[in-house]
Amino acid sequence: MIVPIILSGGSGTRLWPLSRELYPKQFLPLAGERTMLQETALRVADFAGAEAPLVVCNEAHRFLVAEQLRQVGVEPAAIMLEPCGRNTAPALAVAALQATAEGDDPLLLVLPADHLIGRPEVMAAALAVAAPMAEQGMLLTFGVLPTGPETGYGYIKAGEELAGGGEVSEVIPAVCRVERFIEKPDGPTAQQYLAAGGYFWNSGMFLLRASVWLAELERLAPDILQACRRAWEQAARDLDFIRLGVAEFAACPADSIDYAVMEKTDAAAVVPLPEAGWSDVGSWSSLLAVADHDQQGNACRGDVLVMDSRNCYLHADRRLLAAVGVEDLVVVETADAVLVAHRGRDQEVKAVVERLRAQN
Ligand code: GDD
Ligand code: MG
Repeated sequence: MIVPIILSGGSGTRLWPLSRELYPKQFLPLAGERTMLQETALRVADFAGAEAPLVVCNEAHRFLVAEQLRQVGVEPAAIMLEPCGRNTAPALAVAALQATAEGDDPLLLVLPADHLIGRPEVMAAALAVAAPMAEQGMLLTFGVLPTGPETGYGYIKAGEELAGGGEVSEVIPAVCRVERFIEKPDGPTAQQYLAAGGYFWNSGMFLLRASVWLAELERLAPDILQACRRAWEQAARDLDFIRLGVAEFAACPADSIDYAVMEKTDAAAVVPLPEAGWSDVGSWSSLLAVADHDQQGNACRGDVLVMDSRNCYLHADRRLLAAVGVEDLVVVETADAVLVAHRGRDQEVKAVVERLRAQN
């Protein structure tokens, strides 16, 4: 039995000005007709052994989540509401408490709500390989082959092969122990890892037994577990939502799955995801990489007129956008804000949002 846990509490600031606090990127149809939350929920419904998903999100997004799932016919097991963001480790803790409430101990498939997977069949094959190992108590990560020294990812150094040599499956080459897990290294370090080889990016998806997650938290971040247990015990439950105890959850330290547990545990293994078409759509240029292009490498959304321009991401929400003779630009037009950025510097869009927040 696999219970998908869809983490939908992030704010996607690098995709400003489309992604906003009240309407972050997972609720937008950035790469197709459906929103990324909808894509995630539909994708997982096809995986063997997957039950109805548990969604963990912010209180402010409860109707968005409920409505978007309803639109695609996905009935969640529950929608758990956080009164405030405490990052992903607490979100997974309350989900694990919920999933074990009736005495079950399912495998939890942790899925960010804001990723694209072009070839879900690769993920399905990886899951089939990962499930028996997760049953035995390992924490499975899914590794993506790095294509550059990105600093926004966790890096996984693959160690001893636990299963492999083509025996695992036709699609998945091997499963290795995680020798080291380094969350978001700085640029020079990421460069070194790339040069050394043998590293994966952490895709941000995990498969682990609920009780194993709770035990690792107890050992490595007991404050988080304690606060989450209180917030879960104090939760108000109605037909549609589980509202975590407000004061109790607010008192929880904020930390991610990666920093709180994955960097420290010695029970992690990595399943490589070869050519799965994975993207976390973390920035405008990563969206440009996966979106449909014209022959000059431009991706245009909305009412856009483009002449003699190359490798631009051009998005018009409300007005006509015309681009002439430009290269490597990101232009995103919305009702109340326009972003113009160099394609190579779009990680810094996050800093724009931080400055705006500081001003308000
Ligand atoms: N419920 C809830 N509450 N969800 C959250 C919260 C929270 O407080 N914070 C983030 N999330 C959700 C986001 O919406 C996203 O779907 C997922 O959890 C991961 O959070 P991010 O904030 O996007 O993490 P990241 O991108 O910086 O890093 C993670 O993902 C990378 C791959 O995309 C890490 O796991 C890295 O190691 C990994 O490489
Ligand atoms: Mg992310």
